[in-house]
Amino acid sequence: TEVTYLNYAVLSDHGWSLDDDDLFEKAAAADLDEVDYGQFTVEDEQSLLDAAEASGHAWPFACRGGACANCAVAVTDGELSQLVDHILPDELTEEGIRLSCNGKPESDSLEVVYNLEQRDDLADLKL
Ligand code: FES
Repeated sequence: TEVTYLNYAVLSDHGWSLDDDDLFEKAAAADLDEVDYGQFTVEDEQSLLDAAEASGHAWPFACRGGACANCAVAVTDGELSQLVDHILPDELTEEGIRLSCNGKPESDSLEVVYNLEQRDDLADLKL
């Protein structure tokens, strides 16, 4: 699965929102640093977080067990499974928010906004 990622921290710098339909088009055109925007591949049976790390990215995490929400991402396109989730309230999963530490892609391509731990409602959840 090919993942395209975007750092949540840059959204406010550019006046973008997670709800923007063309968020990833705008990101692609914005000449962002590789830490903030780019692509990598997730192999079968790899979690999104493991694949990010294998590709040299340092994404936030703590428990790696579905209990802290530090690793949360927003899935804006594609499907990411969620095997273990002890922390996210329904309203966040309905928004497409998933835990990258145990989420595995279920689509050929995926667009995710990582670093969501900086969002106020997720910062409040973190242990
Ligand atoms: Fe704690 Fe993913 S690292 S829920």
